[in-house]
Amino acid sequence: MGETAKIDISGKTIELPVLKGTVGPDVVDIRKLYAESDAFTYDPGFTSTASCESKITFIDGDKGILLHRGYPIGQLAEQSSFLEVCYLLLHGELPTAAQFTEFEHNITYHTMLHDQFDRFFQGFRRDAHPMAIMTGAVGALSAFYHDSTNVEDPEQRMISAHRMIAKMPTIAARAFKYFRGQPFVHPRNELSYAENFLKMSFSVPAEDWKANPVLTSAMDRIFILHADHEQNASTSTVRSAGSSGANPFACIAAGIACLWGPAHGGANEEALNMLIEIGTVDRIPEYVQGVKDRRYRLMGFGHRVYKNYDPRATVMQKTCHEVLDEVGDSDDPLLKVAMELEKIALNDPYFIERKLYPNVDFYSGITLRALGFPAEMFTVLFAVARTVGWIAQWKEMIEDPAQKISRPRQLYTGATQRDYVAVNKRG
Ligand code: CMC
Repeated sequence: MGETAKIDISGKTIELPVLKGTVGPDVVDIRKLYAESDAFTYDPGFTSTASCESKITFIDGDKGILLHRGYPIGQLAEQSSFLEVCYLLLHGELPTAAQFTEFEHNITYHTMLHDQFDRFFQGFRRDAHPMAIMTGAVGALSAFYHDSTNVEDPEQRMISAHRMIAKMPTIAARAFKYFRGQPFVHPRNELSYAENFLKMSFSVPAEDWKANPVLTSAMDRIFILHADHEQNASTSTVRSAGSSGANPFACIAAGIACLWGPAHGGANEEALNMLIEIGTVDRIPEYVQGVKDRRYRLMGFGHRVYKNYDPRATVMQKTCHEVLDEVGDSDDPLLKVAMELEKIALNDPYFIERKLYPNVDFYSGITLRALGFPAEMFTVLFAVARTVGWIAQWKEMIEDPAQKISRPRQLYTGATQRDYVAVNKRG
């Protein structure tokens, strides 16, 4: 046996193997602990627990590093495209030119939705939150595409992956159009992934729509920045749902539901609301005091893993400036509030001691608003981008021979066994 960790428990010494990754912390393999000691480990929120083995994404939170299949996020965001990153996440390597052409064709020709699927949207109230529509509509995909729900079949797994990456922008744009009360716009095969999504979101029958290359490239970069983030809450949810053998469409719907929470994907909407609430630079000190008094949190700040600047936030800040310049909004008062708030927080001992830095959501809200999306759509856009990460992680889990159904244990602190008492005899 290589390196081991010893644990003394109930008068016994148990030796546990230590597993080594290619990079990152070692992992103590506790799989035999319960059999040998009658003890579980306790780790709410998985702060020290690796739930799986993965080759997709690596984060060094202390150094602010994020790698997809080994490639730094900054390089991918600047030099690659979202669809190429999708291929990389799914297949493990960057595609050759021929592989990319085939992949792009596969995605492009899966963007349409089954005609009957459109009736689904009409069932929702007009004022339904687009994330509520997304959760319901994506879950319904398994009712339409039965021929790609057999998780045992590698070909069906790949078809379902292509379908979801391709159809998610179409569903998201429909959720937006329905929310706005505008007619649905169908996908066009000659457009790029980001261009198509912007057209389906913003074009109306009353006038021609023309793509803006700066905004299209910003949209594509935003998708890249959100494509995957190793074992975050929604990805763990997808893996957990998939561990029972549930079909991929149902698993992704579970991920979308988890993403909606304000501590996860809902944070960009909350971060923008916070900037609007602060409103002007002179109100920042009062707001920061409220954070220190623990009345609320600084949204778009802090991260479970990053205890240094989130590398995605660096790219997002740059993208934010590019978009605001392009739409002629570089004097946006919210941008001033954001920049000043960031400066104050980065120099304040309260935030320094707790290693609280801006995360990707701090600047994404302002950027998405400048692109024309209302706050309700922000998490939807996150879901569109994260779909590839979820599906790549789901696929990796299904193909992992060590995969088991997710079934955590617990530390039980409730009542011990007792006898039932009839209601007329209860004191
Ligand atoms: N504002 C003020 N204080 C904070 C914040 C914040 N945003 N985040 C953490 N803290 C404090 C917290 O009060 C605690 O202080 P103390 O030790 O004195 O009690 C300390 O920092 C550690 O907090 P924690 O809750 O134990 O940290 P966590 O790792 O469980 O939480 C987090 C991570 C992302 C949920 C949290 O930082 C947060 O709520 N941030 C705001 C929401 C947000 O921006 N989320 C988006 C994350 S990035 C996108 C994504 O991947 O989904």
